[in-house]
Amino acid sequence: MTYIEAVSALEVLDSRGNPTLSVTIGLADGSSGTAMVPSGASTGAHEAVELRDGDAARFGGKGVLTAVANVMEVIGPEIVGLDALDQRALDATLIALDGTANKGRLGANAILGASLACARAAAEACGLPLYRYLGGVGAQVLPVPLLNVLNGGAHAQTSVDFQEFMLVPLGLPTFAEAMRAGSECFHALRAVLRERGHDTGQGDEGGFAPSLRHNEEAVEVLLEAISRAGYRPGEDVALALDPAVAELYADGRYHLRGEGRVLDSSELVELWSSWVSQYPIVSIEDGMGEDDWDGWAELTSRLGSQVQLVGDDLFVTNVDRLREGFARGAANAVLVKVNQIGSLSETLDTIALAASHGYASVISHRSGETEDTTVADLAVAINAGQIKAGAPSRSERVAKYNRLLHIEAELGSSGRYAGRSAFRLLGAASAPQG
Ligand code: PGA
Ligand code: ZN
Repeated sequence: MTYIEAVSALEVLDSRGNPTLSVTIGLADGSSGTAMVPSGASTGAHEAVELRDGDAARFGGKGVLTAVANVMEVIGPEIVGLDALDQRALDATLIALDGTANKGRLGANAILGASLACARAAAEACGLPLYRYLGGVGAQVLPVPLLNVLNGGAHAQTSVDFQEFMLVPLGLPTFAEAMRAGSECFHALRAVLRERGHDTGQGDEGGFAPSLRHNEEAVEVLLEAISRAGYRPGEDVALALDPAVAELYADGRYHLRGEGRVLDSSELVELWSSWVSQYPIVSIEDGMGEDDWDGWAELTSRLGSQVQLVGDDLFVTNVDRLREGFARGAANAVLVKVNQIGSLSETLDTIALAASHGYASVISHRSGETEDTTVADLAVAINAGQIKAGAPSRSERVAKYNRLLHIEAELGSSGRYAGRSAFRLLGAASAPQG
């Protein structure tokens, strides 16, 4: 009774007002699942292909009617009759049907929509919440939220070169208390920015998007906000960065346009090293460009024993890129974005491969989001210990955090907040450096 009976798709809007896909799969037993597909702005060059119509007369070329038609006319007829409980077989069918390495024929957005809608329908057929269906009895860890409260780079049109400055409430006892701390610091940050005469308009991920004097001022205002809200920087609430420097890379160097500075890889390693020694930073994502493997190796050998170094554009949730990273000694953690690779099974493969090499997985949203909360359930299902879903503000961001608040309440005493233990390197970070 769990075989797929109906497949439909619709063009809906994401948080930036751009079109994206909503896919619904209905099963013979009457269960159904719907998934909406996220979309990036600072996308990695090696990501699976997001199929856009390119018809300038609709949504400036960003329409997804071709992807919708691919779901309805190509994918649907092929997967009707398959058992929704066999996610691996479904995903293998979708990948074979596309037939390209980057999902460029049918579109990773079309394939992912079908893949996630199937998982949701299967969970409903089993009468289980998605995290339990995906993770089984082992799913119990509430992730530490990485709250992106100051947006720069491609997510804001300001002088701040680096894309994300995040609060990491790792010293709180529960996920609910962590969110409270994050929210209180967020409001304190607004006050700090106002006092300094900065804008408090918001960027793509709900964080403030001020034009600052220099990039480091972003770290200063976050630390001030943490203290002002009554928390201890580093102890209760630490910091994480996603400078997304692939966006700044040209001609072999990193162009910090807001500051009028140009750095080579070694100088950028120096910059991160100096920030890590001065500030309570526990994680840096994309601290080097996506094809600067030598820079990544240098960064990792320099800071990899002290701080989490996350590959996002570097790995694009792809096992081949991740294997190359192991071989080259690049990073020690992977950012996991379901639409970078385009199916649930492949996402789980990347997480498993990362774990087998001691790399942490940070489950992530995209800057273009919807009210879909799949990533929240995924984080608990695999006990990731960390989730990155934007600021504690704006409904497409808060939807993920609210889903986790519900899961924490549902798990009750069998749930556990990951807290500091999510950051395996912190023991090393507090040890004296030789
Ligand atoms: P994106 O940004 O979704 O615009 O790619 C998020 C990130 O870089 O982590
Ligand atoms: Zn990133």
